[in-house]
Amino acid sequence: MNIGSHLLSRRLGRSVLLVAALAVAVAFLFLGDGLVTKVVGALGALLVAAMFKVVSETFVQLKRLKRHMSQVADVLTESSTAIRSDLAKVVESHVRLEEVANQTVESLQEVQRTTANSESALSRLQIRFEEIEQQTHHQIEQIHNRIETVEKVSAETGAVLERLKSLSPDVRLLMGNRISQLPRSLEFDQSAQLLEWATQLGLNLESDVIEYLARKLLWIEASGVGRLAASTADGVFRALVAMSLSDESPAVLEIGVLFGINAAFLWDTVGLVVPGFHQTLIDPFEGYYGETLDRFTGLPVTREVTETNLTRMGAPPETWRILEGFSTDDWVLQAASERAYDMVFVDGDHSYEGVSFDVGHYGPLVKAGGVLLIDDYGAPGWPGVTQFIDEFRAGESDYNHVGTFNRTALFKRS
Ligand SMILES: C[S@@+](CC[C@H](N)C(=O)[O-])C[C@H]1O[C@@H](n2cnc3c(N)ncnc32)[C@H](O)[C@@H]1O
Repeated sequence: MNIGSHLLSRRLGRSVLLVAALAVAVAFLFLGDGLVTKVVGALGALLVAAMFKVVSETFVQLKRLKRHMSQVADVLTESSTAIRSDLAKVVESHVRLEEVANQTVESLQEVQRTTANSESALSRLQIRFEEIEQQTHHQIEQIHNRIETVEKVSAETGAVLERLKSLSPDVRLLMGNRISQLPRSLEFDQSAQLLEWATQLGLNLESDVIEYLARKLLWIEASGVGRLAASTADGVFRALVAMSLSDESPAVLEIGVLFGINAAFLWDTVGLVVPGFHQTLIDPFEGYYGETLDRFTGLPVTREVTETNLTRMGAPPETWRILEGFSTDDWVLQAASERAYDMVFVDGDHSYEGVSFDVGHYGPLVKAGGVLLIDDYGAPGWPGVTQFIDEFRAGESDYNHVGTFNRTALFKRS
């Protein structure tokens, strides 16, 4: 049954009942016996009708109430579901918050630990810094003391130097260091360099042997006739090169002999020790570069002086031959070319052309593995020599520049 017919049937029922109650009340009024019955019956019928109405309306209200209650229950159920969902979200948020809070606490603890470590490291650093500061102070103090000592020593050294300076001209005069810029002294650094050269040349010498050779050269010059036209250091260097010659009977050619002091020294250092040592000596013996007499000794430059110096040192005549002439003379070149040499020493004509000629014509007489020495490299008075050597070193040839000691350039033939 639909709602319309339901309501209609209920209204109809109530109307029927009302009509029936009225009919009963009328029936009691008209048909009842006595007034009381009529009134009571009619009132009773109306009362029953009224009660029925009340009950019926109450019932209707109850129905409505039930419906409302059901709606309220629905609303409540919905609300409760929503609240439960919200609550779940709140719980979830709470859990996350708790996690974040835990992490934050952990981070805080870590920060606390790190801070503690940093503090301890900082205090250790501070201690170390204080130690270093103390050490530095101590060292600065020591340095100050040393500076004071050095200043004191330096003042004393200054005084000694002043004294030495006043002695220096006499010492230099005694050593002959002022003669033509060819020092007779052997400086400490030169001595050390010569020892290094000796090692490089394959000689196993002690440093005092270098000093001995220098002393011997000075003695040969002083006790001989004439002079050595080189510094003592250069003279010792030439001797070291001659001592290093590998041939069993080493042959030496010297162009420009002057007084033969170099030849006498080589005899003494090599000839006396190595059997078969031989020297070929080329010089015109016509004075010293245009002057009849040597400008230092005042002596004439003669073949006899050289022979005297060699003989004085005990060199037998068969250990040397003198070619009295210029290196440019054909007969001299021819005579010199009769043999090959372990060492050719160019110290004659100091012009560019002169050195070029000598190296060009006598260089080829050097044996393979032999050496070529050229004097006066870098000497202010002989620019032609320096120019030639610089070009010779830069150009292509069989001769390798081994090095230059002082004024002597050394080349080795490949
Ligand atoms: C610097 S001295 C030689 C010094 C000698 N070597 C020494 O160590 O004591 C130069 C000599 O070369 C000689 N001379 C100059 N031109 C020459 C040449 N073309 N050939 C050979 N000797 C020459 C000079 O007569 C002089 O005696």
